[in-house]
Amino acid sequence: MLLHVPEILSRDELAHLRGALDAADWTDGRETVGTLGAQVKRNEQLPDASPLRAELGRMVLAALARNPLFFSAALPLKTLPPRFNRYHGGGEYGFHVDGAMMRSGDGHVRSDVSCTLFLSDPGDYEGGELVISDTYGEHEVKLPAGDLILYPSSSLHRVMPVTRGARIASFFWVQSMVRDDAGRRMLFEMDGAIERLRASGADEGAVLQLTGIYHNLLRRWADS
Ligand code: NI
Repeated sequence: MLLHVPEILSRDELAHLRGALDAADWTDGRETVGTLGAQVKRNEQLPDASPLRAELGRMVLAALARNPLFFSAALPLKTLPPRFNRYHGGGEYGFHVDGAMMRSGDGHVRSDVSCTLFLSDPGDYEGGELVISDTYGEHEVKLPAGDLILYPSSSLHRVMPVTRGARIASFFWVQSMVRDDAGRRMLFEMDGAIERLRASGADEGAVLQLTGIYHNLLRRWADS
């Protein structure tokens, strides 16, 4: 499932993040990929060990935690600390797949859902589309600053060359309580439909029964 989650960040949070990132020290993005990724990746990142990355990452996680649409779509169990990247001067990231298991502390997090949080206004750069290839073809994504795209980590994807300006974004992976993308999608759609029924004043008993079914499916499919 490909989902656009608008306005993850408030205007104030976005301004704070951008101020800090515009003044930050960036390093070669190939620091955090394997040999295959290194051949196609040309961008910059905040170093993993940088205190600024940790601080800004916590801001992103706090913003996610208060977003019901993100929760409903991702059903997050574990979220890797967000990273930050910058593409400019022709920088790009060719087609690649994300690693399935990501090291985190002493253990690993399985990447089920990939997320990109756009931090640059689309008018500030040329190119830089995130292209996601799935069974339905290729999708080009370029969102307003503060908006997020969520997509299955199993997809092939790339970032087109940035030929003018700079594209700054945060990216991270989520291990979902529901590993299967199709199951997660059905739960997301059902949750949305129940919310709309409730808001429209539909029969309370039927809404309660559907809510019960949602939770029983989640109970059946979720890992904790
Ligand atoms: Ni990737």
